[in-house]
Amino acid sequence: MSVARLDWIAGAGRPLAGELEVPGDKSVSHRAIMLSAIAEGVSEIHGFLEGEDTRATAAIFRQLGVRIDAPSPSRRTVHGVGLYGLLAPESDLDCGNAGTGMRLLAGLLAGQDFASTLVGDASLSRRPMARVIEPLRRMGASIESAPGGLPPLRIYFSNELQGIDFELPVASAQVKSAVLLAGLYARGETRVREPHPTRDYTERMLAAFGWPIRFSPGEAVLSGGHRLRATEVHVPADFSSAAFFLVAASLVPGSDLLLRRVGMNPRRTGLLAALRLMGADITELNPGEQGGEPVADLQVRHARLRGIEVPEALVPDMIDEFPALFVAAALAEGRTVVRGAAELRVKESDRIAVTSAGLRALGADIVEAPDGAVITGGRLHGGEADSHGDHRVAMSLAIAGQLAAGEVRILDCANVATSFPGFDALARSAGFGLRDA
Ligand code: S3P
Repeated sequence: MSVARLDWIAGAGRPLAGELEVPGDKSVSHRAIMLSAIAEGVSEIHGFLEGEDTRATAAIFRQLGVRIDAPSPSRRTVHGVGLYGLLAPESDLDCGNAGTGMRLLAGLLAGQDFASTLVGDASLSRRPMARVIEPLRRMGASIESAPGGLPPLRIYFSNELQGIDFELPVASAQVKSAVLLAGLYARGETRVREPHPTRDYTERMLAAFGWPIRFSPGEAVLSGGHRLRATEVHVPADFSSAAFFLVAASLVPGSDLLLRRVGMNPRRTGLLAALRLMGADITELNPGEQGGEPVADLQVRHARLRGIEVPEALVPDMIDEFPALFVAAALAEGRTVVRGAAELRVKESDRIAVTSAGLRALGADIVEAPDGAVITGGRLHGGEADSHGDHRVAMSLAIAGQLAAGEVRILDCANVATSFPGFDALARSAGFGLRDA
């Protein structure tokens, strides 16, 4: 996990141009390791995100007795041990910065015949886990947390789990996935219903590994008592990583940039719709499929952006993209209103507060609300902005630095490696002015 402190200096670069491919999808990479590990046979993962979050998940499965080879940085060969083949770990399992790792593992480990303890870094240790503990307990799991439902999570051996019919109180793919993974080990049927459909990678990947599952937007149903069979997984490029370039190229005059083979799962591309409502010029080219996921090349050209009321229905489909959207809004013409996004307060940081404070330090006009913000577009000046160790806030502030009238010092950027190792070099190659402080 990141130890060394890293600050960046971002300042005007060139118009963004050329072609680039961002690294593999974080959500898909986590799930690929998990399902390969409990499948029967050897699975090959292509396009794996070699970020700190996903490496932490792979390291945990090694502690649980799974052999995982890395023939190249973006490949993993996982020697699956079957549903009941994991071994009791000898020490705590460190999820690092990854909420996805901890929440999905809580579900998977609830079904094992050994006890385990999930720990995380300072940010993860502040994030709510009651949302997974509560449904897992209803399934018969025995889980203890620190006071307030916070990590670490101690998961005890519990006799057989029972299926559950569960309606998600918050739109969360992580909670849905934790319940479904516990459902693999449960007696009877597990059904998860969601008021707002969220990313469905767990469902799709379970099907690809041969587990019978029925799912449609808003509902997934499976039963225990089947097997997962090893397969090949092709991980698409992460839309959330591409998002920084979509926003940056839209904002920087003269830009014309091509992003190759971006994952276009509709549960992830809400930002594209929002940017288009703001007037962005983004074209989808060469639509295709990669490992069962839609992909496309995205050509983005500079355009004048206008403020919008972000439709609340888009919020779950762009939940990771709000730091970047706030930057677009701070530089657009007019007012942008974000509502219905209270979940942002419990991400890697309180993203409403941290993104707003960072942009306000550069002169932005942002009024926070409990579940969003009102952002009035204008100009930004140079200054110092603190990402509070949140990878997506750091990368978003790097975009702000391209447009600010003076240089921007961005504090605490090392965690960018959790989701997008090499962002700074790739961004520079596209035209960003960005360097280590
Ligand atoms: C994720 C789901 C989202 C997202 C996170 C990854 C996943 O979290 O913010 O970055 O891989 O399932 P929630 O499900 O908690 O909203």
